Amino acid sequence: MNALNTLFASTAGAGLATGSGSFWMPRQGTAIAGQVDGIFSFLLWLSLFFFTLIVGLMVVFIVRYRQRRREERASSDVSHNTALELTWTLVPVALVIVIFTVGFRAYLRLSVPPADAYEVLVTGQKWNWEFTYPNGYRDPQLHVPVDKPIRLVMTSQDVIHSFYVPDFRVKHDVVPGRYTKVWFDPEAPGEHYILCAEFCGDSHSDMISKVIVHPAGEFETWLADAGGFLDKLPPAEAGERLTKSLGCNACHSVDGSRMIGPSYKGLFGSPRRLKDGSSVVADENYIRASLLDPQGQVVEGFEPVMPTFQGRISEKEIGMMIEYLKTLSDQGAQP
Ligand code: CUA
Repeated sequence: MNALNTLFASTAGAGLATGSGSFWMPRQGTAIAGQVDGIFSFLLWLSLFFFTLIVGLMVVFIVRYRQRRREERASSDVSHNTALELTWTLVPVALVIVIFTVGFRAYLRLSVPPADAYEVLVTGQKWNWEFTYPNGYRDPQLHVPVDKPIRLVMTSQDVIHSFYVPDFRVKHDVVPGRYTKVWFDPEAPGEHYILCAEFCGDSHSDMISKVIVHPAGEFETWLADAGGFLDKLPPAEAGERLTKSLGCNACHSVDGSRMIGPSYKGLFGSPRRLKDGSSVVADENYIRASLLDPQGQVVEGFEPVMPTFQGRISEKEIGMMIEYLKTLSDQGAQP
């Protein structure tokens, strides 16, 4: 069976590990990708072969045994053909056993992460991905070292998403209220797209990020730098970086245009009419409440779709966001 796996891996995988993808497939960023593609093309060609054989024979038989006038009809005393019946039973049985064995082995390999894997937490939400590293740093992109297997522990803030890295042949549902896991073993430094493969609302198709595979030894340096960088920036600039890393810009524009949520432009210090008819001024406390309890103060004309950032954003970070919003508003700019 190992010989079979090697055969499958080598037929589809030849020469693809480094370059771009083939006509049919994206490039292969992991070792398992070659195996997955091998099984896929084996199934594809097998199905094509039997499709052609069966449909071809049907057409031949339709023409050959079409209805004729009574006196032209042939008669036969053949009852069955043992050799033929054994062939069309045993060959498919053998094929199904091969498909099951090869498929199940690949499935097990995809499902069971090695014990020494590096763990990153993944949070899906409408409509972005957030990756939390062991030191607590969060990033909208997935950075990983090249020389370690990576295990992802994933959950969702709202609806079902699906974490999909086509180059790695890795796809798994991300479900609210529970943790799901996938793992992969990147082969070379480089960048690969992350997509959402489960329709999750308006901006589902914009739920795109990247895996960045760092060369050996560089990941640790990147993580140490990234972990402390917000504290080194001026608060307003740190706030702007936060709105990007938390995915706020998926729903809030900064130029006044209307997206899923209200624009940030001119928001700070302005009066807001709420859905319940009351009205508030968007001061520091309003911004804080909107982040921690977004459903509490929904602005008139917008849907209550924002996820809460309770537990995901610190008081210090809320302060940074407020400073950033002030820079986008005339009221905020005045002392
Ligand atoms: Cu998240 Cu589609």
